[in-house]
Amino acid sequence: MTKEQLQQEIIEKVREYYALAHASRQEFIPGASRINYAGRVFDEREMANATQAVLEFWLTSGKWTKEFENKLAAYLGVKYALMVNSGSSANLLAFFALTSPLLGERQVKRGEEVITLAAGFPTTIAPMIQYGAVPVFVDIDECANIDINALESALSPKTKAVMIAHTLGSPFDIARVKAFCDAHNLWLIEDNCDALGSLYQGRKTGSFGDIGTSSFYPPHHITTGEGGAVYTSNPLLKKILLSMRDWGRECFCESGVDNTCKARFSQQCGELPYGYDHKYVYSHFGFNLKATDLQAAIGVAQLEKLESFVAKRRANHARLCELLQGVKRLRIIQAQGESEPAWFGCLMIVDSDAPFTRNDLVQHLESRGIQTRALFAGNITKHPCFTHLENGRDYRIVGDLARTNAMMERGLWVGVYPGLEQAQIEYIAKEIREFCNA
Ligand SMILES: Cc1ncc(COP(=O)(O)O)c(C=O)c1O
Repeated sequence: MTKEQLQQEIIEKVREYYALAHASRQEFIPGASRINYAGRVFDEREMANATQAVLEFWLTSGKWTKEFENKLAAYLGVKYALMVNSGSSANLLAFFALTSPLLGERQVKRGEEVITLAAGFPTTIAPMIQYGAVPVFVDIDECANIDINALESALSPKTKAVMIAHTLGSPFDIARVKAFCDAHNLWLIEDNCDALGSLYQGRKTGSFGDIGTSSFYPPHHITTGEGGAVYTSNPLLKKILLSMRDWGRECFCESGVDNTCKARFSQQCGELPYGYDHKYVYSHFGFNLKATDLQAAIGVAQLEKLESFVAKRRANHARLCELLQGVKRLRIIQAQGESEPAWFGCLMIVDSDAPFTRNDLVQHLESRGIQTRALFAGNITKHPCFTHLENGRDYRIVGDLARTNAMMERGLWVGVYPGLEQAQIEYIAKEIREFCNA
């Protein structure tokens, strides 16, 4: 038997294993079955790809990673995508890229400001604090995205960038945010972690800003287990991102390849001796945020399904909204005009004068087997990690963040992921209606 034949046999067995262990869906029993807010959706193709990558045993990033990066970039309509080991790493890398001295005047320096949201995920803003930049928090609008009207009042001579997420997959008003950034020479980072496949004016979110980021943690639109990506169409930013992802090195050889620049031993770099091995020349203080081929192999199979996943998310969200039409004491958060979200979930907010609290509704749903989530941190500035920071020095708050606080106090969301079928969506709607209309 040749190694190719043996590999084929192993992969056949893995396919059989999938059919036996994972393929059958448990029957949905209203009230008894659990309805998760999200989860991985996969079949034998992900398992076959992962097995092939295991048998190849390259282990680090390699040919699968290249394939995944190229296909992701093509999907998004951007020039470059780099895979990393999480969405948080993608945000870390995207933000730190803006601190590169290679950006000259536009480099974000310590003490300079980045406009962002307090309503969202912590690692959208953590890199700013970690570096010593100053996040400037503005409120959200009715769509739970950045309040465009607050942008001008957030601006100061120290503002260098805007870094925000498309809340739960629903695009913010990109045209107006971009116009603001262009008018004031600011970078725009789109945290696209919850929005892969969302459209704004017919174009994919993540492709508008200077840098976009993705997460492939299992609840997200596609998964690689842990994993993420940064993307850009700007060659200089790509060079910086690559350097910072890969230890800060100047060398851009693929893993396992030497001398791509054809000048490995014939360059003058910094104050090093002439011809110092370019593989070990460092132009940044970097990280190692690479993912592995095992993850990328799974991602390649997931990418092929992405459009069908997105369609299912949209259909589930639309059906849930339809069934919840006219529900009392609850507002379902809608998308803004020019967008077609690839919804991460269905976000809602309990009326301030409702005779029940958000937690009452949450407990009701959870007790009926329906998993719920808050809008991540709610208001990140209220968390213990902010206790030792000073408003006005380490961060700034613009206005009163009234809508952010309302979302923290009265917001919740339920799932619309592709693993949910009609019956489950109908059951979620029925339980919400019965509770809220009672
Ligand atoms: C908006 C947003 N940004 C970043 C992340 C971080 O992604 P990861 O969990 O892959 O680190 C998440 C996680 O869900 C997220 O929702």
